Formats: sequence, C-alpha cells, structure tokens
Amino acid sequence: MISKHINSIIILFLFLLVSCQSNVQKDFTLNEISIIPQPKELELKKGSFTITKNTKVVINNESQRSIASYFIEKFYKASGIKLEISNSTNMRNSILINEKSGLTEEAYVLGIEDKTIKIEASSYGGFMYAFQSLFQLLPPEIESNSVQTDIQWILPNITIIDAPRYKWRGLMLDLSRHFFDKEYIKEVITNLAMHKMNVLHLHLVDDQGWRIEIKKYPKLTEKGAWRVDQESAAWKGRRETTAEEKGTYGGYLTQEDLKEIVAYGQSLNVEIVPEIEMPAHVSSAIASYPELSCLDKPIGVPSGGLWPITDIYCAGKESTFEFLEDVLTEVMDIFPSEYIHIGGDEATKTNWDVCPHCQKRIKEEGLKDTHELQSYFITRMEKFLNSKGKKLLGWDEILEGGLAPNATVMSWRGVKGGIEAVEQGHDVIMTPNSHCYFDHYQGPMNDEPKAWGGYLPLSKVYKFDPVVESMTPEQANHVLGGQANLWTEYVPTNEQSEYMIFPRIAALSEAVWSSKELRDWSDFSIRVKQLFKRYDVIGLNYAKSVYLVSSNSEISLENKSISLVLKNELSNSDIRYVLGNSELNTDAIKYTNPIEITETTVIKAALFEDDIAIGKIYIDTIKFHKAVGKTVKYENIYSDQYKGQGAFNLTNSIRGTKNFHDGQWQAWIGNDMEVVIDLENEQTIEKVSVGTMENQGSGIYFPVAVEVFTSIDGNSFEKQGETKRDYLQNADSSLKDFVVNINPINAKFVKVKVTNLGSPPNGGGSWLFVDEVVIE
Ligand code: ACM
Ligand code: ZN
Repeated sequence: MISKHINSIIILFLFLLVSCQSNVQKDFTLNEISIIPQPKELELKKGSFTITKNTKVVINNESQRSIASYFIEKFYKASGIKLEISNSTNMRNSILINEKSGLTEEAYVLGIEDKTIKIEASSYGGFMYAFQSLFQLLPPEIESNSVQTDIQWILPNITIIDAPRYKWRGLMLDLSRHFFDKEYIKEVITNLAMHKMNVLHLHLVDDQGWRIEIKKYPKLTEKGAWRVDQESAAWKGRRETTAEEKGTYGGYLTQEDLKEIVAYGQSLNVEIVPEIEMPAHVSSAIASYPELSCLDKPIGVPSGGLWPITDIYCAGKESTFEFLEDVLTEVMDIFPSEYIHIGGDEATKTNWDVCPHCQKRIKEEGLKDTHELQSYFITRMEKFLNSKGKKLLGWDEILEGGLAPNATVMSWRGVKGGIEAVEQGHDVIMTPNSHCYFDHYQGPMNDEPKAWGGYLPLSKVYKFDPVVESMTPEQANHVLGGQANLWTEYVPTNEQSEYMIFPRIAALSEAVWSSKELRDWSDFSIRVKQLFKRYDVIGLNYAKSVYLVSSNSEISLENKSISLVLKNELSNSDIRYVLGNSELNTDAIKYTNPIEITETTVIKAALFEDDIAIGKIYIDTIKFHKAVGKTVKYENIYSDQYKGQGAFNLTNSIRGTKNFHDGQWQAWIGNDMEVVIDLENEQTIEKVSVGTMENQGSGIYFPVAVEVFTSIDGNSFEKQGETKRDYLQNADSSLKDFVVNINPINAKFVKVKVTNLGSPPNGGGSWLFVDEVVIE
C-alpha cells in the first residue's frame, strides 16, 4: 500500500519533470545579450520565458494579424512549431501585441517576464523592430530556414525601450554595373530588416545597363539592359563597343518583379526608393534611343569602365523631357516611396557646350553656363515630381548651378555637399565616400578580393556619424539619416555582394539607429561576433576581414633589429604567433608586445578564439638582407606625396602592400629613381632586387629597367648588370620584384638606377613606386 503510494508520487514527479522540461528557467547574464543595433534602454531581469507550442500570439485588432503572422511564420520555419493567434485576454504563456499610441513611429517596447511577452508600438515598423530584437534574444538557430530540433526557444526576462535616431537608414544597391535578380534583392531586404534598416535604394539606371522595364520605351530593356560580355577582362580594361554589336550580358526587372519587391519591402518596413539617373550615367538609354543625346550618335552599351562618359541627355530638346516624364510616370506607378532619386552626379557637359539645342536653351532661359543648365534640368524634373506629390532626391552635384527649391541632397563627395544643403535649409541624407562606400576594401588589399579602391574597415564604418559637428541644431534637424552605397563594378555575384555588405551594414546600422552616447567599439566587437553566428545560420557570405592580423614595423638602427607590431581591428583580440617553421597551433605564443627580430625570419600569426585560430593566417618574411639599416643617398628625392618611412624606407626590410597609401612606398612622378646604398664595409654582392608595384588605373607603372653598379670607394662605379621589361597592359594591381643577378663581386657601395616608364600609352603622368632594395 505504502509502496504503491510512493510509486504514484514518483510518477507524478516524473510527469512534472517532463512537463516542466519545456519550460526550463534560466537567469541570463548581460554578456549573453547581444543586440545590433544597440537599443536605447535595456534592463535585464532574473528568469526567462520559453516559447512552446502552447504559446499564443494575442492580437487585439485585425490590423495586427499581419505582424503576428510574420512572427509566426519565421518562428515556424526554424522551430517547426506553428503558434496560434488568439484574441483571448489570458496573459499566461502569451505574446501580446499591443498598440501604444504615445510611441513615436518605429519605436517599440519589448517586455518579457516569466508568463508573458508584451510588444508595444504605434506602427507596423515598431512591432517589426520589437520582433527583430526578440529574434536576437533567441538562439541563433531562429535564423534557420529549416526546422532545428533540440533547441530551447528561451528568452531572458527583459525590458527594452527603443527608438531609432534617424528615419533614413539605407543601403543603395547598384543593379547596373552588375545585375541582381528579384530573389537576391528580397534576401537583401530580409537581411536589412534584421539590422533595423528601412530603406533600399535601387540604382536602376547607369551607363552599363538599364534595369527597369518601361512599357512605353521597350528598347530600354531590349537593348539597354544588355552589354557585350567582357566579364573576363578587368572592369577598366574593357574595349569600347559599337551600336551594332549585340549585348548578351545583363538583365532587368519587370514591373511585376518590382511591385513584388516593393510589397516584400513593405512587409519588412523597408521602403524601396528608385533611382533613375539623369542627365549623365545614361549610356544604356542613349544606346537604346540615340535621339536622347545631343548629337544623336548611335553608341553601344559600355561593357565596363570607360571614362569620361560624354554621352548624356540633351538638355535642349523638349523630347528629352517628354521621355523622362513618361519614364517617371511609370516609375511612380510602381514605387509608392515619398522620394524619387534622379541621380544628377558626374555629368561631363562637353556635349552641352557644342550642342545647338542646349546652347539655344541657355540663351532662352538666360542661363550663365552649363552648370546652370543642369540646374534648369533638375529643377524642371522637380516641378514635375512635386506636381505628382513626390519629393526629388539627388546626389550632391545637384547643388551646382543652384539647388532645386525643394530638393533633398544625398551627400557623397564627403560631407561638404551635406553641409552646404543644410545651410540652405534643405534636407540631406549623409553617405560620404569616406565612411559609407561599401565598394571600398575592408581589409588589407593583399588579402581581399578585388575592390574599387579606398579602405573602409568595419571600425571606420562604426565611426560614421551622419551629423557633422559644425552643424547647428537646426541644421542637424535637416539630416534625415545615413546610407551605405554598394557600387558593383567589382561585385559580379550575390556572394560578393554579401561579402561587401556584411558585416559593415551592422556597424552602419548602429550609426543610424543608436544614440551616439551608446556607441562603443569594444562592446560592438563582442556583439558582432555573436551576430556572425546568426550570419552563419543564414548562410551569408559575410566578410571575416575583421579577423585578419596585420603588422606595422619599425627598424631600430642602433640594435639593427626590426620591431614588429601585430594588430587586429577588434578590441581585446587574442593574437598568437610563431616564428620560423613552427605550426601555428594552440602552442603559439600569445602576442603582447612588439616582437624584436634580428635575423631573416618567417612569422605566422592569427586571431584566436577559444584556443582556435579563426580567420586567415598572416604570413610574412622579414628578410635581413645586406642593405638592412644602411644609409641611402638619393640622386632624385621621392615625391612629397609618397615618402614611405623616409630615409631608411628602401632598407628597412618592410614591404609594401597593394595599397599604395600604406606608408611603405616611395614614389617618383615622371623621373627615375637613382640611389646609392652605403654598405659600410666591403661585402660580396650577387643579387639585387627592387620591389615595385603597378596599378595602371591610378597611373602607377612598373619600371622599364633596373641597373646595378658597384663601387669600393664611392666614386668610380662599374655596371654589373641590368634587367629590362617592356610596358604591358595590366588592368590589375600587381607587385613585382625586379631581380638583377650578377657575378659575385666585392663592393662597399651599390648604385641602383630604376627607369620610369615615362610616358604611358594612355597618356597622363607615370608614377614609379618602390618599397625596398634588397641586396644579397
Ligand atoms: C557617386 O558615387 N557617383 C554618387
Ligand atoms: Zn544638347
């Protein structure tokens, strides 16, 4: 009898244990909470809430059904649990969606306690962001598109009160230089929403492709969307094509595709803003309809980067404006956005100078010059857009010749356009190329896929602030927000696009969402690594450049040693290294102080996390050749613009990278390099190498000859050998050592003469770049 009683107690106990298992309680700690962008206020409490199949999503009016369904669908995909919507007022085990009228648009309050999750906002966007924060509190597996078993969908008890700093939090995607299809664009929207970004600006028109179907002008996509396939050649190395050649490379979005994208954006609080370029960056339109240009000249759609592009819309012919109004009418039917972006950047106006139509317009309108003609053009388009209830947005060149009365400026050439616009009382969106151009490199150039140029690491994006200090509070109120721009000349695939956007968009999201006082790079360094776990689940090809180790070194002339500093962008990073042939494993030395190196050495280093090397391994050879630390006498001094490390730059054993601004290069424009190195005592010489670079796009060319002379007394030199090379077209950025092997000879002085190419076939000056003279 007693044992039976005990049995039922045990059974009851087991039952309780099983039923409680789905409701495990846990106390979270603050370092387990990682939300990007950082919320305004966050208060962590003891205890937790676990979402189970019995959790109800409670709405109190039908308009909340769509946001409830959004959450339910996403949760179902990852968990396999389909939560039910209910109108019950029972608070237990519920996610309550509550309208709260006092909150500003996009603001939200998320309260989680043992029995209830409460989500409050005054708009769809606010609810959306409450759920985004909720997702980031759940395990990373919530981002999965397939059912994940054995996951506790547990959330900390917490209160988050949050609102964005700016209303414009954007990304621009250039669809012209490379085309991206509807499915990929929807993925981008999904991932933008995750970062609480709310604008996707689509650059739909540019020289290299017209990407939007316009029913009244079918040739825009029949012809303008396709270019001759020269994808295997470098962007700037592609030949000019003719109007007769048939394009096969490209694509476009139909109006149906775009409407679907717009609707998808609305479901995630992302507004799609179209950009229809004018008056320049429109070769694709002129290739389709040559009469849109001043000279009616038939052209091909350019396959790559030809510059300058002089074929722009004629500002004199009335037919140009009829065409543009027709195009914009169809555009406005597709995009409900408040703003229409009309481009306006980089117009080379040489055709306007000679075109009788344009000249006639200038005279009739009493304009001063072609800048004012551009202003006339944009102002006229603004009148049209305003008459349809839309606002005009354009790149900062629309300031030139006078800003259209109601225009909003997108400041890209730094911040000065933005400052000028707010001074005139106009709204601006800040997207300075210094902090927002995601086509720039994000890590050391030698380790990164080819990019446009520039250097924009994650930590620099994190420093972005849309407001400039010199702005008055009233001017600052005209700053609507900020935006990242991804130009796609060097972005041919979805994977590469993801690589350029993520994680830099995470840093940008914090710059445009979180208040300035909350921004903290070392805290972000920790949170971004948690975000990477979510990116991994999504399957994003994000850049891990932030894991790279780089070096900085100094030579000590007294000690004849090199002091090597190892660096990583993240705060508090665990860098470990080995010298020589050792393997880089858990036994590697933890880097704390600069490493003294006194002989030729290979160094390997990496960032470690939990005792495991993550990211790419850094490998460098410090070569202690015979000239290290020796004095260099210059026959022609190097340019003031590229001094490298000064006096011992060529003999410090430190090599430059493909980034010609890395401070390791000395350069000569137009003239040759001639130096004499004093080896201090007689040594046997058998090989001299000169480190050079080529980047023809930037006017940097390999030399055509390297000659080596030696001397015992420093007065009479004898030529020992030379190496020559003819100019070759090279669209890449390349490093090369010019090696001169000589018969072994004793010498105290070595003279090295490096001959500049002088006059490049494509014109312009010719830079000669040298980082080291290696003597062996
Ligand atoms: C631009 O980068 N040309 C706006
Ligand atoms: Zn003209």
